Amino acid sequence: MKKRIFTGLVLACMSILPTMAQWGRPVDYSAGPGLKDAYKDYFTIGVAVNKHNISDPAQIEIIKKQFNSVTAENAWKPGEIHPKEGVWNFGLADSIANFCRENGIKMRGHCLCWHSQFADWMFTDKKGKPVKKEVFYERLREHIHTVVNRYKDVVYAWDVVNEAMADDGRPFEFVDGKMVPASPYRQSRHFKLCGDEFIAKAFEFAREADPTGVLIYNDYSCVDNGKRERIYTMVKKMKDAGVPIDGIGMQGHYNIYFPEEEQLEKAINRFKEIVNIIHITELDLRTNTESGGQLMFSRGEAKPQAPYIGTLQEDQYARLFKIFRKHKDVIKNVTFWNLSDKDSWLGVNNHPLPFDENFKAKRSLQIIRDFDAAADNRVPKEDFVPNPMNQPGQEYPMVNSEGFARFRVVAPDAKSVIVSLGLGGRGGTVLRKDKDGVWTGTTEGPMDPGFHYYHLTIDGGVFNDPGTHNYFGSCRWESGIEIPAPDQDFYAWRKDIPHGNIQQVNFWSESTGKMQTANVYLPDGYGKLVKGKNGKLEQTRYPVLYLQHGWGENETSWPVQGKAGIIMDNLIADGKIKPFIVVMAYGLTNDFKFGTIGKFTAEEFEKLLIDELMPVIDKQFLTKPDKWNRALAGLSMGGMETKLITLRRPEVFGYWGLLSGGQYAPDEIKDPTVVKYIFEGCGDKENPDGINKSVADLKAAGYNAEGLISEGTAHEFLTWRRCLYQMAQSLFK
Ligand code: XIL
Repeated sequence: MKKRIFTGLVLACMSILPTMAQWGRPVDYSAGPGLKDAYKDYFTIGVAVNKHNISDPAQIEIIKKQFNSVTAENAWKPGEIHPKEGVWNFGLADSIANFCRENGIKMRGHCLCWHSQFADWMFTDKKGKPVKKEVFYERLREHIHTVVNRYKDVVYAWDVVNEAMADDGRPFEFVDGKMVPASPYRQSRHFKLCGDEFIAKAFEFAREADPTGVLIYNDYSCVDNGKRERIYTMVKKMKDAGVPIDGIGMQGHYNIYFPEEEQLEKAINRFKEIVNIIHITELDLRTNTESGGQLMFSRGEAKPQAPYIGTLQEDQYARLFKIFRKHKDVIKNVTFWNLSDKDSWLGVNNHPLPFDENFKAKRSLQIIRDFDAAADNRVPKEDFVPNPMNQPGQEYPMVNSEGFARFRVVAPDAKSVIVSLGLGGRGGTVLRKDKDGVWTGTTEGPMDPGFHYYHLTIDGGVFNDPGTHNYFGSCRWESGIEIPAPDQDFYAWRKDIPHGNIQQVNFWSESTGKMQTANVYLPDGYGKLVKGKNGKLEQTRYPVLYLQHGWGENETSWPVQGKAGIIMDNLIADGKIKPFIVVMAYGLTNDFKFGTIGKFTAEEFEKLLIDELMPVIDKQFLTKPDKWNRALAGLSMGGMETKLITLRRPEVFGYWGLLSGGQYAPDEIKDPTVVKYIFEGCGDKENPDGINKSVADLKAAGYNAEGLISEGTAHEFLTWRRCLYQMAQSLFK
C-alpha cells in the first residue's frame, strides 16, 4: 500500500506541476511537421550544408524532414570548385547536387562571383601579371557557364554576385594609399579592375547559361541604413540598364539583439520597390552583439548558454519569422546558414541555430514552426489600464480588456529585459528599448484570466517589477499581475456585505524547532453572543477548513493572491454556505527541493498540522473540534499533502479536497464511510481527464465526490479560487 501511494504521488506530481514535467524529461522539439511543411503557404525553407551533413543518416533525416531548399556551404564557391585554370573540384559539389536530386530538393546556387573564396587566378596571367578586364570576363564567363550548366537542372536560384557593396561606417577610405570619400562599392579586385561593370557581366553570363533561374544579388547587413541604400541604388541602376537581376538576397547574419523589426521591415519594403523576389539566404542569430557577413567574429569561450540567452534567441527568431511571413509576397525563401550549432561557421559557442551541437532541435525550432497565423495580424486593443495590483502611483504593468499585459521598465543601461510571463511555452515576453530608452513590451497574446506570478530577468539576473506588489510563490516574493476574468465578481470586494477578518496566529512548533505562522479566517459575527437553543446566550462554534498552499508558497498565498477571505465573505453573504473558519498554515513544502520529490511524504507537515497547529487552533478559537467538522484541502503540493495525510489519518478529517493536486482512487481509501465528501479540481489546461475519471470512479464506488474543471485556466490561482468557491459549498453538510 505504502509503495503504491508513493508511486502514485510521484506520478501525480509529474502531471500536476507542468514545469516539473519538463525536468529530467527531455522534450523533443522536432516532434511535429517539418519547417518546410509548416511554411508551405509562405516560402521555402533552406539550409546550407557541408559534406558531413549529407553523409550521416541522422543528419540526412533532419535535412529531409525540415528543408526543401539546400545551399552548398562552400563546395560551389569559385575558389573551391575552380581553384586553378582548368582545374575543377567537382567531387563534393556533385555529391551535394546528387543528394538533392535524389531527394527531390531544389538548390540555391551559391555563389558565382565573390571577392572572398574566389578563383583569384582569373586576375593574373601565367607570369603572374594582371590581366585586362576582357580576359577576366572571358574566364568568369567560362566559369559561370560551366557551373550553371552542370547544376541548373537542380537549381532554382543563383547568388550571382555576392557582397559587392561597401559596409556602413566608412565615410572615407584609403584607395591606393590615398584617402578618398568612400565608394559605395567594396574595393575588391573585381571592382578595381572593372568598376561595377563586373556585376552586370556576371548577371549577363548567368542569364545566358540559365534563362529561367532566379538571379540574385546577395549581401549582408542589408538592414543597415547606409548599406541598404547602397544596395538599393546599385540594383536599381543595374535593372534600369537592363541587367537581369531578379531578386535580392539578404544574408541575415543577425544576433539576439539585432535587428529591430522596423529596421528589417524598412529594408524589405525598400527592396520591394525594385524587386519582387527576396531571399533570406544565410540566417543565423549570434548570441553576442556581433553581426554581418565578414569573417571577423569571436567564437567565444566554450561554455553552455545561459537560459535567458536562449529566451532572447527564441524571441528574436519569432520576431524575424513573423516579419518574414508578413512579407511572403516577396520573400520566397529563408535559408539557415548551417544545419546545427556544431556546423556553424560562427563556432559552436555562438549557439546560433535551431539545432544544437548534438543535432537536437532547440525550442527555437518549435517556436519558428508552431506559429499562430491568426496571431500574426493581431493588434491588442488600446484600452490598457493599470493593473489593480500596482504599487501606489504606478501606471505599469497595464492590462487591456482582452487580457494582454503591457510592461514598462526603466533600466537605461541594461542589455536585455525579459518578463517571465509568456505564452505557449515561450520563455517570456522580451521587452525592447523604446525611443526614450525605456524598456517596453506587450504579451504576444491575451494571458489566461486570473492571477499570475512573474519576475524580470535583466541581463540574466532576477528582479521584481517595481511597478507591482509582491506575492510569495516559487520560494520568493514574486511580482504579480491580475488579468480580469469573466467570473471575477465571486472574488471581488463588495462594500455592501459584512466582512470577516483574517488573524495571524504564531505558535511554537517543537517538531521543526521554530515559531510557525498560520493565517486564520474568522467569519463576520465570530465571537458574538447569540441566543442558543435553550434561550441562553452563547458563542457559536464553527467547523474548520485547513487550506494548504502549493510548493514555493506559504501561509500568505491563500489569503492574499488566493483571496480566500473575500471568497468566504461573498459565499456567506449570498447564503451559499454557513460560516466556518479557514486556517491557512505554512505547509513546509518549500523545504523540499525538486529532485528529492520522491522523498516527499508530508510526514513532517502531518506532525506540525495535527499535533501542533490543531491544538492551538482548537484552544484559541471557537471550533467544533471533531472530524465531521474538520476539512483538509490543498492546492498542488498542498493537495499531495492533503492526500497523504487524509489517507494516513482518516480519523482526523471528514472532508477532503485536492485542487490541482492529484486524485484519490477508491481502492486507496477502501471505505466510503470514512469521508463525507471529496472534492477534486483542476484547470482545463491541466489534467481534466484524470479528474473526471477519478470523480466518476469514486462516485461509482459509493463516495460523495465532486469535480470541477476550471475553464481557460492552468496551474494557477484562478483555478484554485474557483475550486475553493465550489468546494466550500459542499463542506460540513
Ligand atoms: C562562410 C562559410 O560558412 C565558411 O565555412 C567559410 O569559411 C567562409 O564562408 N557570407 C557568405 C557565405 O555569403 O558564403 C559565407 O560562408 C558566410 C558569409
